[in-house]
Amino acid sequence: MIHLFEQGADRGAPTLLLLHGTGGTERDLLPLAQAVSPGSSVLSVRGNVLERGMPRFFRRLAEGVFDEADLVFRTKELYDFIAEAAARYGFDRNHVVAIGYSNGANIAGSLLFHYKGALKGAILHHPMVPLRGIPLPELTGTPVFIGAGTNDPICSPQETEELSGLLQGAGAKVDVHWEHRGHQLTGSEVQAAADWFGRQFAAKG
Ligand code: MLT
Repeated sequence: MIHLFEQGADRGAPTLLLLHGTGGTERDLLPLAQAVSPGSSVLSVRGNVLERGMPRFFRRLAEGVFDEADLVFRTKELYDFIAEAAARYGFDRNHVVAIGYSNGANIAGSLLFHYKGALKGAILHHPMVPLRGIPLPELTGTPVFIGAGTNDPICSPQETEELSGLLQGAGAKVDVHWEHRGHQLTGSEVQAAADWFGRQFAAKG
């Protein structure tokens, strides 16, 4: 997969897996990594699917309607790629925290939904429920930050609550941060994610 890797100064800190929104690239979320954990190594990946020229992490049939077979296939592709990248760049595969926005948050959620131990934790900015009706792997104690907007037309507050409930049902430790905004990612949401990350991981980093 097209990606960039930056070695961080703090080898004890989790590696950050950055996953952009629709139409983005692997460069988009680099400022978030700086804000959240400047010492971390960064693996930032570009989605392998193109929708009218816009990179995405999986196909959709319409706005908010996912191509579920492609979602499952692309989730495995990304899961395998993280292991490949860990071997190539020498980071700990079992110490990876995702930061995703929108479509990138959805594939990060799908990693959590499909693979036990895929992520040590996740910051999901404006995620949806990636897939319904599947049993989730055990996520006991996995910290997950969800940033959501009370007026988000793409991820409704109800869907945010549903996602939070599904993750908690599998044992994840979920914190939902609400902004009185829409789908956009605001500076205050990024700051809240950074503060949350510090509380979850600072002692170990
Ligand atoms: C998706 O397709 O993943 C969601 O609708 C978010 C987005 O627009 O990328």
